[in-house]
Amino acid sequence: MSDATVERLVLEDRHGRVARDLRVSLTDRCNLRCVYCMPEDGLAWLPEPDSLGDDEVVRLLRIAVERLGIEEVRFTGGEPLLRRSLERIIAAAASLRTSGGSAPELSLTTNGLGLDKRAAGLRAAGLDRVNISLDAVEPARYAAISRRDRLGDVLAGIEAAIREGLSPVKINTVVMRGVNEDQVVPLVRFALSGGYQLRFIEQMPLGPRHTWKRADLVSADEIRALLATVFDLRPVGRDTAAAPAALWQVDGDGLPGGSVGLIASVSEPFCSSCDRTRVTSDGKVRTCLFARTETDLLGPMRAGARDDEIAAIWAGAMWDKPAGHGIGSDGFEPPERTMSAIGG
Ligand code: 5AD
Ligand code: SF4
Repeated sequence: MSDATVERLVLEDRHGRVARDLRVSLTDRCNLRCVYCMPEDGLAWLPEPDSLGDDEVVRLLRIAVERLGIEEVRFTGGEPLLRRSLERIIAAAASLRTSGGSAPELSLTTNGLGLDKRAAGLRAAGLDRVNISLDAVEPARYAAISRRDRLGDVLAGIEAAIREGLSPVKINTVVMRGVNEDQVVPLVRFALSGGYQLRFIEQMPLGPRHTWKRADLVSADEIRALLATVFDLRPVGRDTAAAPAALWQVDGDGLPGGSVGLIASVSEPFCSSCDRTRVTSDGKVRTCLFARTETDLLGPMRAGARDDEIAAIWAGAMWDKPAGHGIGSDGFEPPERTMSAIGG
């Protein structure tokens, strides 16, 4: 179909928000077992036939970018590097054009395992940047949290990301009481010396059932207070209005200065400016991490729906995006699926 005949919609909702940022999960599997995310034995993985094939992923990306106003695509999982065709999918995404005529911004959220070997190929395929998860810089602690002794592989992945220019290289840390609070300052030292943008994330109730308690939350305020015992801190705003991370310029301790982000997902939700839509690896739209419902796109695609029909289903689902996650309010129920199945 020629561009002139493509009908364009936007992913707006009844609360006045417009989604421009798509998170697409390429697998629900992972080679780590982070305690806050997965049980030791893993989860019941989605059967292959129920998962989006490469062509189906690429078709959804094309519909999102060409018809639905998506400007940024983040590939997630599970662990997206476990998808062998990741480079091919990224290359296809990089060839898409938004209504403004530019390629969508492409990023990857990864645990970093194996990134050292794939960073160059990913860059060549058109990947712009990476977010790497790292909850400790002390090897034994890293192994205890991720249940795998792989810190060295992650560090190699981070170095490769820098070397290949997948920048800014962002590092995500989930802070958990009694588990890695003592890693907060060492992580900042690590990030400042390496030139990585570290972001601390408040833990959300998304992991194995009943493992999250509000009383245990290490809030962004608390993390800031912890940092202030060692560093000079100065607020420097956010990257964009919809960016979840409040940025702080951090100086001192004899290190090069840099910025550290605090993501107050629970204590100060940013739902009112959320610009995200999500697709799970089995092809379901989730309007929010905490949405109670999902809308299937894979079934209609396999039943022969046209692009405009898929776009209309997607836009219809997003209209009902809830105003907020409601964590902490009466009657809040965490989603059935964990973060690894939804796609961070
Ligand atoms: N709360 C906050 N962040 C989480 N992540 C995974 N589970 C949670 C949770 N319950 C993070 C991972 C990774 C990204 C995909 O989301 O650490 O950085
Ligand atoms: Fe894997 Fe990420 Fe879950 Fe850890 S948090 S088990 S790296 S999907």
